[in-house]
Amino acid sequence: MQENLPITIIIFGASGDLTHRKLIPALFSSYKKGKLPEKFNVVGFARRDWSHEYFREQLKDGMNEFAEEMFEEELWEVFQRRLWYFKGDLDSTADFEKMRAYLNDLEDGHSNRLYYLATAPNFFVPIVKSLGQAGLAREGGNGWRHVVIEKPFGHDLKSAQELNDAIHGVFLEHQIYRIDHYLGKETAQNILYFRFANTIFEPIWNRNYIDNVQITVAESVDVGHRAGYYDQAGVVRDMFQNHLMQLLALVAMEPPSSFEDADAIRNEKVKLFNSIRPIDLADTVRAQYDGYLQAERVAPHSQTPTYAALKLNIDNWRWQGVPFYLRSGKALTEKCSEIIIQFKKPPQLMFPSLDDGDFTSNALSICIQPDEGIHLRFEAKVPDLKTTDSVDMEFHYRSSFSGNTLPDAYERLLMNAIRGDAALFTRSDGIEAAWRLMDPILQGWETAAAPPMATYEPGSWGPVAANELLGKNGRSWRHDCGQHTGNGR
Ligand SMILES: NC(=O)c1ccc[n+]([C@@H]2O[C@H](COP(=O)([O-])OP(=O)(O)OC[C@H]3O[C@@H](n4cnc5c(N)ncnc54)[C@H](OP(=O)(O)O)[C@@H]3O)[C@@H](O)[C@H]2O)c1
Repeated sequence: MQENLPITIIIFGASGDLTHRKLIPALFSSYKKGKLPEKFNVVGFARRDWSHEYFREQLKDGMNEFAEEMFEEELWEVFQRRLWYFKGDLDSTADFEKMRAYLNDLEDGHSNRLYYLATAPNFFVPIVKSLGQAGLAREGGNGWRHVVIEKPFGHDLKSAQELNDAIHGVFLEHQIYRIDHYLGKETAQNILYFRFANTIFEPIWNRNYIDNVQITVAESVDVGHRAGYYDQAGVVRDMFQNHLMQLLALVAMEPPSSFEDADAIRNEKVKLFNSIRPIDLADTVRAQYDGYLQAERVAPHSQTPTYAALKLNIDNWRWQGVPFYLRSGKALTEKCSEIIIQFKKPPQLMFPSLDDGDFTSNALSICIQPDEGIHLRFEAKVPDLKTTDSVDMEFHYRSSFSGNTLPDAYERLLMNAIRGDAALFTRSDGIEAAWRLMDPILQGWETAAAPPMATYEPGSWGPVAANELLGKNGRSWRHDCGQHTGNGR
């Protein structure tokens, strides 16, 4: 619909970090690849008293700081002429009226519009309401109107439902794009291709062959300058409710009836979330890294976890009896996101020289970042000995597709929101289903039944309690991505 019209991308929060770090580099890269419509404008909305010229200079500095490798002076000169600054206050409905007049002048006719909410979450509802009141959300012969909502989407189930209700009061679901940048990563998208564009993996992708699944999203940085926000949120809201649950859905969902239909994919995700058994508090671990309580803007007796691990069960035919272990934290050994599919041991070990206790069963590691690729680990006979060692079959994006650079997740997601492809965005029921699983944990952690708040050394893999979560069933966490093989692990 109306694909040939010009487009205006309106960024609320245009003087902020996300705009400089991600959005403008993503738009510039799309422009460079010829993916933006011939006629486009980018309008930045924020309070600072900036001129168009100063705005462009700031964004250029941002390009040099965050996306130097793709910067091209001559191309930027042309691109930057499409960047405009609109000084306004998000709390002022009058400023939205003024913006409407400004956009009408700028566009000189019909234009599609993408509104990007790159602001603190407390502005999401006021912005959407003001867009509605100013008549800026209505679609008609004048072009489509899409709105992209940043994370965090609510801080619990109730607030997420209220946010969904408020947005639905102005926009229809097909206009709404709730972003989870993990879904824009090539490696995350590849999970479904890996599972359903090959015949050899899906037949064993179930309880008959898989012992357990582990999902790790580890960050090496501590809370840093985000301490104020982080202390209000914590790792469950910051990472589990969105990124880890989305990765889990990609690994565990049933095949959708179509890959072209966003709702077919999103239906399967919701079905999967609804099959997850309520998580037992005894299967959760919460922890803070040493030094967190001393960080600036962290409450002195804060109970906000910077690390969590949990075990969950999926009550359906495919996954009955297969535990899924999820962990994420700040200030860990390294930055790494990986999914490990740990297969069962062979039904019988017929090699007397192999010690059952030491035997490593097969594992498939899907490396989301930074070592994008897939490893299949299996046992091979060590030459001249009657023992085995673990070896790897490896696929690395950077060597297999050396001619193609991996597009940034924001670039992919922005272009999809422009094209109207919602498959990589979360639907309202998906967001709420994920909150329905996380809410009882957050509430339970405020009661006497909560597991004790553990601590861990910065630069470690987290608290001992997280090892015990698996250890009590004779399992242990694996970390394969970026690792060298052949050491018999
Ligand atoms: N930064 C990242 O890498 C990142 C990553 C993932 C998600 N996010 C999400 O993206 C959103 C934005 O994050 P950020 O880091 O860019 O925040 P930020 O640097 O604090 O920027 C906030 C923006 O909001 C504007 N603003 C604040 N109050 C306003 C008002 N009353 N009227 C008009 N504009 C107002 C500020 O501009 P003025 O001060 O000029 O008004 C500024 O441009 C957040 O929801 C965050 O969770 C950010």
